[in-house]
Amino acid sequence: MLRSYKCIVNSPAARNALSYVVRSLHKDFRPCTILGIETSCDDTGCAIVDHEGTILGEALQSQEHIHLQHGGIIPPIAEEHHRKNIASVVERALGKYSLNDIDAIAVTTQPGLPLSLQIGTKYAKHIARKHQKPLIPIHHMEAHALTIRMRKEIQFPFLVLLISGGHCLLAVAKSVREFFLLGQSIDDAPGEAFDKLARRMKLRNLPEFSSMSGGQAMEVSASRATDPLQHRMSAPMLQYKDCNFSFAGLKNVVQRKIMKEEKEFDLAPDEVIPNAYNLAAALQVTITRHLCHRVQRAMEFCKLHGLATNNQLVVSGGVACNNFINRGLQIVCTELGYTLHRPEPKLCTDNGIMIAWNGVEKWQTNCDITTDYESIHIRKSSPLGVNLIPQVQAANISCKWVRLKGIEVPQTPEDIELAKMAGRT
Ligand code: KG4
Ligand code: ZN
Repeated sequence: MLRSYKCIVNSPAARNALSYVVRSLHKDFRPCTILGIETSCDDTGCAIVDHEGTILGEALQSQEHIHLQHGGIIPPIAEEHHRKNIASVVERALGKYSLNDIDAIAVTTQPGLPLSLQIGTKYAKHIARKHQKPLIPIHHMEAHALTIRMRKEIQFPFLVLLISGGHCLLAVAKSVREFFLLGQSIDDAPGEAFDKLARRMKLRNLPEFSSMSGGQAMEVSASRATDPLQHRMSAPMLQYKDCNFSFAGLKNVVQRKIMKEEKEFDLAPDEVIPNAYNLAAALQVTITRHLCHRVQRAMEFCKLHGLATNNQLVVSGGVACNNFINRGLQIVCTELGYTLHRPEPKLCTDNGIMIAWNGVEKWQTNCDITTDYESIHIRKSSPLGVNLIPQVQAANISCKWVRLKGIEVPQTPEDIELAKMAGRT
């Protein structure tokens, strides 16, 4: 009897229903259906999500293959593709629904590439005006941070690590609209380092990697390492007792190692270095250690200041698809009494669903909803919440690092399988 009860409560449908009941009992509960538009970088995304977190429609047009050919995102090309695709992406997401079924339109207005942001924002204003719907401007990183709440009842305040191709942020999510920033990258983002180094290693010349993102190619390469300890690199910023990140130095170290091997083996311009897999493993483990160090210090800072009192860590953004990094974070969470949560891969990378869901959260809390369309402006850069970085630095917390047991040694067949499963679905 007890067992069957547990089965019912553990089923996703029962959890959704339970979560709906809990939400609907809340005094601010307002049923809604929100259309969300995302065009902050190179993905044109749109989705319709309701107050229960049910996805009623979704469409995503990625430009990744186009930008892979150029070796990086070219803003005017991204703009051109957003312009070409936006109407059909919104139409596909709407499917059998019409804009009359929608309560409001949520759209990413910051931070992002201005040429890209303006396409989604202009289109959102256009359909909002035409159908007389309110608009909800969305902060792209806040949307990444809160996506997990669409699937799980995670209470505020919680700690969140956002790792992607454009960002690396560590923050406390205090409410739908309040965030405390504890750390950020002082140079590159981790996805950017993975992408640039995968390109420099010419992994795309190996047919199986040709359509993968740089980060995904690195994770699969690393899982094939025969000697992951061949290259040893120290984690960045060990001397700084804060929660900031840096990936540029590591990128230079790896670039020098690639050049050295290319010379040593006298390689042709399109050839991949013989120890590419071992180098990928060394890079991945060093990035994992760096992320784990900063997260551990953030947990200790939060404990000192009574911040993320629910002991929950959420990780999201494209790089969160990496199962190896996830395992490192899991070890830190277990040691420090935290529970780790990450959305499914397609919700970690950029999409319209997270924007629509953030619209739902804002609708529920009645914030940022407007019919004054002219008051909405795009912003290239926009900090995430209140900056507590100086306070973290002043706290000068020394940590006894959690040992990432089992992930700094050669991997098991099970690990290799996990790595293969990573990335976009
Ligand atoms: O969040 P996202 O879709 O776009 C933004 O950058 O905002 O993230 C894309 C990034 C790329 O840099 C890609 O290489 C990285 O996520 N990525 C990964 C993996 N899958 C995607 N990085 C490491 N391991 C992966 N499995
Ligand atoms: Zn993103």
